[in-house]
Amino acid sequence: MADHFQLRLAESRMLAPAVRHMAFERADGAPFAFVPGQFVQIHFAYPDGKPTKRSYSVATVGNESGAVPRIEIAVSYVEGGAATNLLGNLPIGGTIDASGPYGRFCLDDKDANRRYLLVATGTGVTPYRAMLPQLQKLAARGAEVALVYGARNESELLYGEEFEAFARQNPHFRFYACFSRAERAQPRTHDRAGRVHVALAELKPDAAHDIAYLCGNPDMVDQAFALLKDAGLPVPHIRREKYVSSR
Ligand SMILES: Cc1cc2nc3c(=O)[nH]c(=O)nc-3n(C[C@H](O)[C@H](O)[C@H](O)COP(=O)(O)OP(=O)(O)OC[C@H]3O[C@@H](n4cnc5c(N)ncnc54)[C@H](O)[C@@H]3O)c2cc1C
Ligand SMILES: NC(=O)c1ccc[n+]([C@@H]2O[C@H](COP(=O)([O-])OP(=O)(O)OC[C@H]3O[C@@H](n4cnc5c(N)ncnc54)[C@H](OP(=O)(O)O)[C@@H]3O)[C@@H](O)[C@H]2O)c1
Repeated sequence: MADHFQLRLAESRMLAPAVRHMAFERADGAPFAFVPGQFVQIHFAYPDGKPTKRSYSVATVGNESGAVPRIEIAVSYVEGGAATNLLGNLPIGGTIDASGPYGRFCLDDKDANRRYLLVATGTGVTPYRAMLPQLQKLAARGAEVALVYGARNESELLYGEEFEAFARQNPHFRFYACFSRAERAQPRTHDRAGRVHVALAELKPDAAHDIAYLCGNPDMVDQAFALLKDAGLPVPHIRREKYVSSR
């Protein structure tokens, strides 16, 4: 059930030229219980006093307990955005009102599929970072995972080194970095030139074995959904989280 609380900014760093990684702690010191894939909402008022809220997927890599000491999020800069302005300028120690967790964009331990196709653009990759401990365990039942991640260029590949390291340690996990504007200076084996559909087509989605998760740019989510549906995947096996503005 969703809870309301205050968050205090404990740490932050720039992940990309226009994306801020922010690590919050609850001001009451309580840990935060969530299921990887869920999001939090931040609540604030416009200058005219109108209350509003925005959603951010939790990026924290947790442990077995299900509760984490910090809520980590990655916030993309949106020109003229109200939450962008608030979060982009929040100093260390600054507080915001929040609630959560929300959402059902989560892995389902009842699934028995042979392969996961996890697709993201931009900050849409953060739920998959939170899922890493669960993805690691999938090897035990012989499942494979392909993370297909679309970014404009190397500097916008969020948490890229973490996913690459995870792939090196977990042979059942592959990380496809799809660069839409510029390739890496030193391309890697699973780099692809173009948008995510390039790697998706190469992976030959298969209705018999695949479950797909799509997160990020709403147009990408719609187009990848159509591609997977055309490949025969049943709709309940194509799970979606669109980063639409909640205004
Ligand atoms: C479930 C969910 C999870 C989300 N998780 C994240 C997350 O982890 N990280 C993250 O950065 N965002 C995430 N978002 C998006 C986030 O909630 C805000 O919509 C986003 O930060 C913009 O808010 P804003 O107040 O700064 O901009 P607004 O004041 O809402 O928008 C300013 C202007 O920019 C346009 N706009 C808004 N968003 C975009 C966009 N993405 N691209 C282009 N134009 C846009 C609006 O139409 C408007 O014209 C998520 C959204 C949902 C629904
Ligand atoms: N213009 C910039 O350089 C820039 C940089 C950072 C942030 N921003 C702004 O920040 C906000 C969110 O940034 P973001 O990085 O999450 O932006 P985004 O527009 O979602 O782009 C991220 C990646 O998704 C790809 N993409 C876009 N539409 C797609 C589709 N229909 N199918 C498949 N892939 C698709 C982009 O490819 P393409 O390159 O082919 O579009 C890019 O590789 C936006 O407001 C954005 O305008 C802009």
